Amino acid sequence: MSRKIIVFDTTLRDGEQVPGAKLNLHQKIEIAQQLKRLHVDIIEAGFPASSLGDFQAVQEIARTVGDSVSITALARAVKNDIDAVYESIKLAQNPLIHIVLGTSNIHVEKKFNRSKEAVLQMGVDAVKYAKTLLPQVQYSTEDASRSDFEYLWSTIEAVVKAGATMINVPDTVGYAVPEEFGELIRKINDRMKNLNDKVILSVHCHNDLGLATANTLQAIKNGAEKVECTINGLGERAGNASLEEVVMGIKVRENYFNCHTEVNTSELLRTSRLVSHLTGLDVQVNKAITGENAFAHSSGIHQDGLLKDKRVYEIMSPEEVGVDSMELILTARSGRHAFKNAVEKMGFDTTDAADFEQLFEKFLTLADAKKEVYDHDVFYLVTSHRNLDA
Ligand code: KIV
Ligand code: ZN
Repeated sequence: MSRKIIVFDTTLRDGEQVPGAKLNLHQKIEIAQQLKRLHVDIIEAGFPASSLGDFQAVQEIARTVGDSVSITALARAVKNDIDAVYESIKLAQNPLIHIVLGTSNIHVEKKFNRSKEAVLQMGVDAVKYAKTLLPQVQYSTEDASRSDFEYLWSTIEAVVKAGATMINVPDTVGYAVPEEFGELIRKINDRMKNLNDKVILSVHCHNDLGLATANTLQAIKNGAEKVECTINGLGERAGNASLEEVVMGIKVRENYFNCHTEVNTSELLRTSRLVSHLTGLDVQVNKAITGENAFAHSSGIHQDGLLKDKRVYEIMSPEEVGVDSMELILTARSGRHAFKNAVEKMGFDTTDAADFEQLFEKFLTLADAKKEVYDHDVFYLVTSHRNLDA
């Protein structure tokens, strides 16, 4: 049976850490409402201990959208942060406290300047405290992909014993490569099967080497049950795994992964556009799934193939992600088939072969000069050509 993958969106926390992406309260609520429409399972609404504004935004999101979607927020492994998370999310139906603490040597030695045992104990104490407030606690082993495996595992074992219900394995600095990251998840998953408690295994990948989506999908293949992503791949530095890419990767290759999500993919484009509009951060035109050119075909060979059968050059339908339909961009490389299709779509007759040839020659001249030919150009071309001949 196909496994359900839990989709955790962190656009409002990790995504909002992007320089220049500051959102006001109203904008955060608008994004949270759209994420609910998109049907993600968990929304990470912010980092409430960081400022009063963030605290209030998380609180308002928990109150207004927390009825049907789980709400979480981030805390370092300290009491004040955990209290701030609890106070801000407690009105949600299904609140989750998210605690983060590093496990790599560089974090333990340079960031905390403590022994490994002391850092591990901090994590255990934080989870125990969080469990006095709420039943659901996620523990993130920050910089897991650069951590010594046995120490990482001791941490996981100890925090699960203390009550953590989700273990999140981050590739914090986007250092992992797919095969290696998949292997890490497989090893953790294998050992987790021997624990007494049922714990959800999650991943959180950054995109510093452009591998966040690949690493996330490889983790799913190796047993991860939950993925952390952001809309448009926004996030610290080069960003996080893009939600639209991960979700469509799972959907288009469902037979390969034997998994599914409950995301309403027809809301993907709308969500991407909203986040781009409110953050002021453009989506690159060739971005997978939601970029302006993601379903635009300009080569004549491709256009000809698509007009015969869309599946020749389309692995998913544009409608599935909320795009109206595939777009054929007419250029000098478009063949007769694509041009004819555009002329006929406007209601013009093309049965006179000689006339059509003349029209096509004029189209090529225009396309050479203009590079891209739009519907209004085609309309003008046909009407002026036929008036001249009349
Ligand atoms: O990148 C990271 O490690 C994080 C954690 C808080 C999950 O964002
Ligand atoms: Zn992150």
